Amino acid sequence: MMLNIAVEAARTAGAYLRQHLGKVRDIRLKGGQEKNLVTEIDKASEELIISMIRRHFPSHNILAEEGGGGTATASDVKWIIDPLDGTTNFTHGFPVFCVSIAVEQRGEVVAGVIYDPNFDELFTAEKGKGAFLNGKRMRVSAAGSLRQSLLVTGFPYNIAENPDFAIEHFVDFLIEAQAVRRMGSAAIDLAYVAAGRYEGFWEVALHPWDVAAGALIVTESGGRMSDFNGGPYSIYDRQALASNGRVHDAMIAVLQKRSGSKGSGPA
Ligand code: IPD
Ligand code: CA
Ligand code: CA
Repeated sequence: MMLNIAVEAARTAGAYLRQHLGKVRDIRLKGGQEKNLVTEIDKASEELIISMIRRHFPSHNILAEEGGGGTATASDVKWIIDPLDGTTNFTHGFPVFCVSIAVEQRGEVVAGVIYDPNFDELFTAEKGKGAFLNGKRMRVSAAGSLRQSLLVTGFPYNIAENPDFAIEHFVDFLIEAQAVRRMGSAAIDLAYVAAGRYEGFWEVALHPWDVAAGALIVTESGGRMSDFNGGPYSIYDRQALASNGRVHDAMIAVLQKRSGSKGSGPA
């Protein structure tokens, strides 16, 4: 039931985003950062999603990127929403963006949906039940070495401060991997790892709404999530490493060359 509502909301919001591509009127900076954008379309998409969830589950908690979730309730369910992942792409009319919706229950993500309206691709997972692309079971790729790996990453808006050696990690993977991409939507990056299109993804300083659905979709398709040292992964931590499992240790080795230990280096 919750997955069905998440799918319905993601499809509705995704269609709205697609209709408004190239029609952004109000672009603002947020959080005092000079690169972090928000538009009226992010906010309208979030309102659409929240109103659908509230109609069915008025008592549930909501953590939404643009702050539309309101105050905490006594419910043990929390919806985690990115109404438009890929805002910078969107403001340039560049069609790589998606909607990401996850359901967390008693602190564990139990359902996740990522909808890419440009390719009409719906990635879904429920805890323990596998991951699906447009209803078809997905598996991560079988590649076993970095040389055979197509990797993807993203950069935080404060990349000028080079948090956790983000720039050096990019250079190191460029040399070690077959190729590295930077698409501009962390949720799509994770969905593509799950679908076997990428072997791995790493990024620092993401938020729970960027990764909650994607991390579940990766693990449910047979992939692995951890921090940069191979330690336990949390959607609330700053480091996200996702892979098909087979190249995970090789990715950790590359990340550790610079970082040494968790959280070291410039913050
Ligand atoms: C951003 C995208 C991007 C990632 C940034 C995120 P937003 O989300 O996921 O790929 O590199 O760190 O903040 O702001 O477009 O929702
Ligand atoms: Ca995002
Ligand atoms: Ca967003």
